[in-house]
Amino acid sequence: MSIKRVGIVGSGIMGAGITEVAAKSEFEVVLRSRAQETADATLAQLDKSLSRQVEKEKISEADRDAALGRVRAVSDLGELAECDLVIESVVEDLDVKKQLFDDLDRVCDDSAILATNTSTLPVIDMAMQTGRPENVCGIHFFNPAPAMPLVEVVKALTTGDETLATARAFVEHCGKDPVDVRDQTGFIVNALLFPYLNNAIKMLDAGVATRDDIDTAMKGGCNFPMGPLQLLDLVGLDTSLSIIESLYNEFRDHSYSPAPLLRHMVSAEKLGRKTGEGFYDYSNHKNKNKNKNK
Ligand SMILES: NC(=O)c1ccc[n+]([C@@H]2O[C@H](COP(=O)([O-])OP(=O)(O)OC[C@H]3O[C@@H](n4cnc5c(N)ncnc54)[C@H](O)[C@@H]3O)[C@@H](O)[C@H]2O)c1
Repeated sequence: MSIKRVGIVGSGIMGAGITEVAAKSEFEVVLRSRAQETADATLAQLDKSLSRQVEKEKISEADRDAALGRVRAVSDLGELAECDLVIESVVEDLDVKKQLFDDLDRVCDDSAILATNTSTLPVIDMAMQTGRPENVCGIHFFNPAPAMPLVEVVKALTTGDETLATARAFVEHCGKDPVDVRDQTGFIVNALLFPYLNNAIKMLDAGVATRDDIDTAMKGGCNFPMGPLQLLDLVGLDTSLSIIESLYNEFRDHSYSPAPLLRHMVSAEKLGRKTGEGFYDYSNHKNKNKNKNK
C-alpha cells in the first residue's frame, strides 16, 4: 500500500515535529488538534520553523511554501477520514490513547493504517481497541523529529507484515532510518535510556553532585551531546515520568522506581522547556509554551 495522505493527531512537541517531517517529505498532512486555535498555532509555528530554514539557506522559499501548502490544520477528527496513515502523538496516557484508537477506527477507512508514536505504552492495547488490529503498529519518532534520524517501527502481536512494510517505506520516504522492534515497554532506546535518566535525578536528589556537574560529566565522559538533566527537560518531565512509570510497572524492577524529585517537579508543573522551567530555567526561551496542554 502506498501512503499519500497522513493524519497527525496531537500538536505538542512531537505532533508538530512529525508534521514538519511529513510535509517536507511531500505527503499531504492533516494535522488534528482538539482546539482549532491550537491547530492553527502549530501551523504558524511550522511556518516560522521553515522560514528559519529558508534564512539559513537550507531550503528554498518555494520548498517552504509547498510544504506549508500540504498541511491542513483541523479540529474535527472526521477530517482524517481520507488519510492512508494516521499517527497519533497525544499525551502518554493509555486510556486517552485507547479512546482515540476507538474513535479513529470509526472515522478512518478500513484500509488505513493507524499508528502510535507512544514512547512506552503497549501497542497491542491500542490495536485491540480497533476492528483492524493487523493494521496497527508503532511508528516512534525521536525528539526533535525533524533532526533525529531514528524511527522505531513497532510490531505488536497482531501487526500484519504489509502494515510493517508500509510503515517502513513511509519512514524511509521521510529520510529516516527505521529499526524493527517487538512491542515491549520502552522498545529499544527508551528501555536503555530512561533508567539512566531516572538515576541521574536520584543522584542529583541525593546531593552526590550538582546539576551542572552531572550534565558536564556525562557530556565529557561519555561524549553525549547533552547531559541527562538537559535531555529530561527537552523530553518533558511529565512524559518522562510516564515513561519511567511504564517501565517500572512492566518489569517491577525496583531500580526503575521513579525518582521522587521527578514526581514533585511534575506536580509543581515544572515540566522542562515546554513550560519554561525544569531542571533549567527557560523563561527567556523562544519555544516556551505554558498553555500547550490546555
Ligand atoms: N517528548 C519526547 O521526547 C517524545 C519523543 C518520542 C515520542 N514521544 C511520545 O509522543 C507523544 C506526545 O508527546 P509530546 O512530547 O508531543 O507531548 P506534549 O505534552 O508536547 O503534547 C501532548 C499533546 O496531547 C494533547 N492532549 C493532552 N491531553 C489530551 C487528551 N485527553 N486527548 C487528546 N489529546 C490530548 C495535547 O493537547 C498536546 O497536543 C507521547 O505518546 C510521547 O510518549 C515523546
